[in-house]
Amino acid sequence: MTLPILDTFGRKHTYLRISLTDKCNLRCTYCMPQEEMQFMPSKWLMQADEIEVLAGILVEMGVEKIRLTGGEPLVRKDVGQIMESLGKLPASLTLTTNAIYAEQYIPALKNAGVTSLNVSLDTLKRERFQQVTKRDLFSKTMHNIDLLLEAGFVVKLNMVVMKGVNEDEVNDFVRLTAAQPNLHVRFIEFMPFKGNQWDMSKIVSYADLLSGIGQEYAFEALPGEAHDTARRFRVEGGAGTFGIIGTVTQPFCAGCNRIRLTADGKLKNCLFDTSEADLLTPLRRGEDVRSLIYNHFRKKHFAHGGHIGFQEKQARTDYEQNREMIAIGG
Ligand code: GTP
Ligand code: 5AD
Ligand code: SF4
Repeated sequence: MTLPILDTFGRKHTYLRISLTDKCNLRCTYCMPQEEMQFMPSKWLMQADEIEVLAGILVEMGVEKIRLTGGEPLVRKDVGQIMESLGKLPASLTLTTNAIYAEQYIPALKNAGVTSLNVSLDTLKRERFQQVTKRDLFSKTMHNIDLLLEAGFVVKLNMVVMKGVNEDEVNDFVRLTAAQPNLHVRFIEFMPFKGNQWDMSKIVSYADLLSGIGQEYAFEALPGEAHDTARRFRVEGGAGTFGIIGTVTQPFCAGCNRIRLTADGKLKNCLFDTSEADLLTPLRRGEDVRSLIYNHFRKKHFAHGGHIGFQEKQARTDYEQNREMIAIGG
């Protein structure tokens, strides 16, 4: 019998996030440094068959849900093949994407059994989209979100809310969910990563988001699971839902069930832990990686992120030492 991946706080890790690449077709300011980044050389990346082997091992060790991330997962040329093989594992498969290449992958997504996608979208204004992403791809993104909904996928929009950038659009995003049962939005507190110019004063807090929405809408809280990133709500009479991901002021570490595999095959036991375990090199040498996985999770701290981690224990959570968000995948 294979044992589950537990840490010393009794948390069971059943949700695997695999970053397929650190490359992206957008240049969002909150996700990557302003200066051009050094992307990973392709020989460092896990190959499709290596991803399949590592995901298969982790599923045997108790993973029930796999999320593909990037950078942007759909810029990877062999993503179709990767989705096909991971879709055969006894775990649910999903993606976090900017949707720019979504149109061409709709059949592959369906064939792999994907039913829901999380799509990053920070504004409903074309010019602002260009300011945030540095690319003029707003119409393409909106068109593809519509295509995904028409094709029957559940779409969760991820909006990173930043003061002075897009906070005035929160209620416009809530409105989108009024008549669309398959469309959900999640407002995310801006988190600090290497080079992203984070400052506590730029976040719009969970409490402020809720009170701003409350000024326009009556809503009810919905039940959730301990491991959920978002606390969810439904506007009175609404079809879809909205959620708030309080990464900084309302961290959800107590229920953490997440395992991260970077595109270069390093295991992260927390979004903010800089100590990574290399799985790809031992895998390539033909060694067994299971004990490395168990050991790495035994070293997991209760929390690195959240308000306490960022503000009061900076020595333990120096986010400038962490990877750029684009190289972790969220
Ligand atoms: P669901 O499975 O739909 O709930 O998605 P998710 O929220 O797990 O994943 P997604 O990729 O959509 O991430 C949404 C936001 O939550 C992003 O800003 C992520 O960086 C953040 N997030 C995801 N997992 C963690 C985590 O373990 N810790 C923290 N602090 N933030 C996380
Ligand atoms: N803070 C919060 N969320 C972020 N994301 C990217 N960078 C940040 C950040 N600094 C989100 C993206 C994507 C998800 C994986 O992470 O919007 O939807
Ligand atoms: Fe889990 Fe670390 Fe995220 Fe907290 S910050 S929820 S411990 S990954």
